[in-house]
Amino acid sequence: RIAYVNGRYVPHRAATVHIEDRGLQFADGVYEVIAIWRGLPVDLGPHLNRLEQGLTELQIPMPASRRVVAHVLREVVRRNGIGTGIVYLQVNRGVAPRLHTWDHGLRPSMIATARRMPSMARTVIEDGAKVISVEDIRWKRRDIKTVGLLPNVLAKQKAQAAGCPEVFQVDGDGMVTEAGASNAWMVDQDGRLITRPLGHEILPGITRRTLVRLARDAGMEVVERPFSLEEAKAAREAFFSSTTNFVMPVVQIDDAVIGNGKPGSVSARLRALYLDYLN
Ligand code: PDD
Repeated sequence: RIAYVNGRYVPHRAATVHIEDRGLQFADGVYEVIAIWRGLPVDLGPHLNRLEQGLTELQIPMPASRRVVAHVLREVVRRNGIGTGIVYLQVNRGVAPRLHTWDHGLRPSMIATARRMPSMARTVIEDGAKVISVEDIRWKRRDIKTVGLLPNVLAKQKAQAAGCPEVFQVDGDGMVTEAGASNAWMVDQDGRLITRPLGHEILPGITRRTLVRLARDAGMEVVERPFSLEEAKAAREAFFSSTTNFVMPVVQIDDAVIGNGKPGSVSARLRALYLDYLN
C-alpha cells in the first residue's frame, strides 16, 4: 500500500508525520472521506468545497491548489489500484512546538490514504441496521469536518457494544442532529423525506446533498426540518446516509421497531437512485 505524506508517495508502513504536528497535539485539522467507484472519486468537487470551507473557518491555508489536491487523491487511488473503496484526506495546520496559539506562517501538512471497500454496494442493507440514541455532546460547530472526533468515537464504540453499526445523536431539545458518522433521515406517514436543515448543528454531508437533489428530481418530497427522536421512533422509515454507507435503512431505534422491522420502500428507492447515479 502507498500513502501520500507532504509531497511524497511512500510505502504505507513507512508513512509518518512529525510528533509536533498540530493535528496530533490539538486535532488542529480537517479531513475528507471520498468514495471511489469504478476507480473514480465520487462528488470530488463538493468534497473539495467542504474542505476549503472548513480550512477557511479554521484559518488554515489550502495546502495546494484544488487541482493539485485532486491530482494527489487520484494518484493515491491509482497507485493502490482501488476500484471500489475510499480515499482519506487530512490537512493539519502544521508542525510547531506545542503552544495553543499559532503562527500564520505554518505550512499545512497533508496526508492521503486509500482503501478498498468491496462490501459497500451490497452490505447489510437487506436486513437494515439497528441504532441506539446517544446524547450529542459535541461542540457547536459540527459543520466543520474536524479530526476532533472523540464524541463520535465514544458514541460509535457504545453502539458497537450494543451490536449496532450507528447511533442517532440527540440534542438538548430531544431533536436528532445526525448519526455518528452519517446524516440522519426519516420518512413520515405521508411518505415525505425529512432531514435536518444545514447549519452549525450538523455536518453538511455530501451524500445528503446528492440524495436531496436525486430525490427531488425523481419527484419525491424532501422537507428539511429538525425531527425529534420520538418522531423518528414512530416514523414509517428511517435511514442514515454517508460516503461509506450510501443509504442505510434503520429498522430499530433503541427498543422501538421502525415500520414492520424491515427496510422500507422509500429508503430502498432512494438507495436505488443513488446507485444509478454512481453507475
Ligand atoms: N463521515 N455526519 C458526520 C458526523 C460524519 O462524520 C459524516 C461522514 C457524515 C456524512 O457525510 P458524507 O455524506 O459527506 O460522507 C455526516 C465519514 C464517512 C467518516 O468520518 O468516516
